[in-house]
Amino acid sequence: MTFRPFSPYKGLTPFQDSDGDVPFFFGRERERELVEANLMASRLTVLYGETGVGKSSLLHAGVAHHLRTLARGNLEARGEPGLAVVVFDAWRDDDPVHGLSTAVADEVTVALGGSVTPKDEARSLGDALGMWQELLGGDLYVILDQAEEYFLYHGGRNGRGSFDAEFPDVVNDSDLRVNFLLAVRDDSLAKLDAFRKRIPNVFGNYLRLEHLDREAARSAIVEPVVEYNRLVDEGEPVSIEPALVDAVLEQIVTGKVDVGQTGRGSVESANGEVRIICNSSSGACGTRSSALEVASSVWRRCVGSAEPSRSSATTSSVR
Ligand SMILES: Nc1ncnc2c1ncn2[C@@H]1O[C@H](COP(=O)(O)OP(=O)(O)O)[C@@H](O)[C@H]1O
Ligand SMILES: [Mg+2]
Repeated sequence: MTFRPFSPYKGLTPFQDSDGDVPFFFGRERERELVEANLMASRLTVLYGETGVGKSSLLHAGVAHHLRTLARGNLEARGEPGLAVVVFDAWRDDDPVHGLSTAVADEVTVALGGSVTPKDEARSLGDALGMWQELLGGDLYVILDQAEEYFLYHGGRNGRGSFDAEFPDVVNDSDLRVNFLLAVRDDSLAKLDAFRKRIPNVFGNYLRLEHLDREAARSAIVEPVVEYNRLVDEGEPVSIEPALVDAVLEQIVTGKVDVGQTGRGSVESANGEVRIICNSSSGACGTRSSALEVASSVWRRCVGSAEPSRSSATTSSVR
């Protein structure tokens, strides 16, 4: 069945590793390679950046998607996946150790082609990771996204069986063939100090994710439209005028347009051509907004008027 997208733009939620999202995810190739190289080389990598900069999207639709594609290719070519990658962010659950163990079990089972019976009930996180890594027979990568929520929901909780107690043990266990990446909002980075005594090198390998640069932001606006036209083959193709994309990027960088929050700027659509009109005469509004938000807003107002409207408005912005 052909997937028929409603819009070329994802909107205000993170990109997932899904058929609906991955074809529309652009602008993060360099960062994907860098994060992946670190994840593969180091026992623990810390990825941090402002909220809304694109960490979760990069990890799901970039890193995890690419590694899972490699694993599927390996399985087809030589009967074993060679690796598996888990992205865990369910920190709201009461017991993150159990949640993470279950997520690893599910992911390894899928990576192996779908039918695995674990030998016995694992007691600790280390036991669980060790058991599933052995069944996998390859490298296990565990991405812990939204780590700020771990501190929010489980902050002072420690003691036997807690994530606080078990996580340092698994990171320090040199027999485990498992690497970890912790992704955290920059204003929660200091909270990782809680692990510093027990994971001596907790800040040994850290990466900061920056906003999309101008070229990447351009491709994140323009490329999804190309992909959209490819997938929706009936009807008039839609286009965005390159000069107008440049104008929007320029206006956003200089803080003169904030379509999402103030309605400054406007959009037009004629003969399938989407036009973004920036109204800089209203003066600088002082806030930086997202090129993606502008593009998404253009889409909502000109083409996809049936899209459910969303209320608030902070997404990744450009430098
Ligand atoms: N490369 C990209 N292209 C287009 N939109 C993106 C891109 N990366 C992130 N976004 C959008 O920006 C917003 C914030 O992304 P998210 O991954 O949740 O950031 P973070 O995890 O850093 O808070 C979401 O609306 C997401 O769809
Ligand atoms: Mg996130």
